[in-house]
Amino acid sequence: MYKIGVMPGDGTGPEVTREALKVLEAASEVANFKYELVHYDFGGDRYLATGEILPDSAVEEFHKLDAILLGAIGHPDVKPGILEKGILLRTRFELDQYINLRPVKLYPGVYTPIKDKGPEDIDFVVVRENTEGLYTGAGGFLKKGTPDEVAVQESINTRKGVERCIRYAFDYTRERNEDKKLTLCGKTNVLTYAFDLWERAFYDIAEEYSDITADYAHVDAISMWFVKNPEWFDVIVTDNMFGDIITDLGAMIQGGMGIAAGGNINPEGVSMFEPIGGSAPKYTGMNIINPLAAISAAQLMLEHLGQKEVAKKIEAAVIKVTSEKIKSLAAGQMGYSTSEVGNMVAEFVRK
Ligand code: IPM
Ligand code: MN
Repeated sequence: MYKIGVMPGDGTGPEVTREALKVLEAASEVANFKYELVHYDFGGDRYLATGEILPDSAVEEFHKLDAILLGAIGHPDVKPGILEKGILLRTRFELDQYINLRPVKLYPGVYTPIKDKGPEDIDFVVVRENTEGLYTGAGGFLKKGTPDEVAVQESINTRKGVERCIRYAFDYTRERNEDKKLTLCGKTNVLTYAFDLWERAFYDIAEEYSDITADYAHVDAISMWFVKNPEWFDVIVTDNMFGDIITDLGAMIQGGMGIAAGGNINPEGVSMFEPIGGSAPKYTGMNIINPLAAISAAQLMLEHLGQKEVAKKIEAAVIKVTSEKIKSLAAGQMGYSTSEVGNMVAEFVRK
């Protein structure tokens, strides 16, 4: 029996989450597991109506869940940063979800903007550190609002935080069992403190994994190679900020935000799964947004919970839909509605 928190959030979040839940239901029938949903309506509308962002009591409850499924956070009437920091980042930090796992996989039938590359070339995973770096909020202003203003935003990198992330990445690379290559994405030529620590930790730990090729590349070069030679990559490990940036690039080469999903993982605790795109407010309520990213988030959640076989079935069902059904991943151009796409995936999972 899994206790799953569901936080649909803002904009199109509820529409895509609804489809992910359909697929979860189908998966539970096929794999014979039981689950209970706990619904949370945190997001922009609730904040605007009540001033509440994410109460401590909810965070306490989160600790007792088996996993959380998130839709999208971000509301056009709320100043950017309030909900992102107050809901999404707070949950990642409070639940110590120190891994952000983001597969970049081009499915058959999906358009990639990269000429002459196909599904056999674009299939790698980014392991993004998720609780440190530039995201801790360390820093501040001096003389704010004056001509002498100073703004400092520091990147926090602890040996422990970096090590646990790198170790996870090596273990993940071993289990993935493709090229068995782990690439550290850094910037050792300029960030000579932060990435010096990362690099030392990386090669220290690499000694324990002699079956894995440990490789290094600067973040700017990686951005170039994602486009030019995506087939070079198997697993990439990087800090929070670089991971944020390169996974948007990754999402684009795998077909866009309509398909990219990720997991905020605490291997010893409660993890949260989400489509990595935003709340797409302009499409809200139109039933035209692509739910496949949210469905893939549910797939990652089930994989994480140990339901590996049915997770594979969900992926196969998604591939059936991308390769045989929808015309495009773009909102309004799928040739089907949001709910029809969800229905098709659920049906293929049941078959
Ligand atoms: C992501 C998002 C978040 C991040 C934002 C919404 C705070 O871009 O999950 O990649 O920067 O981590
Ligand atoms: Mn991002």
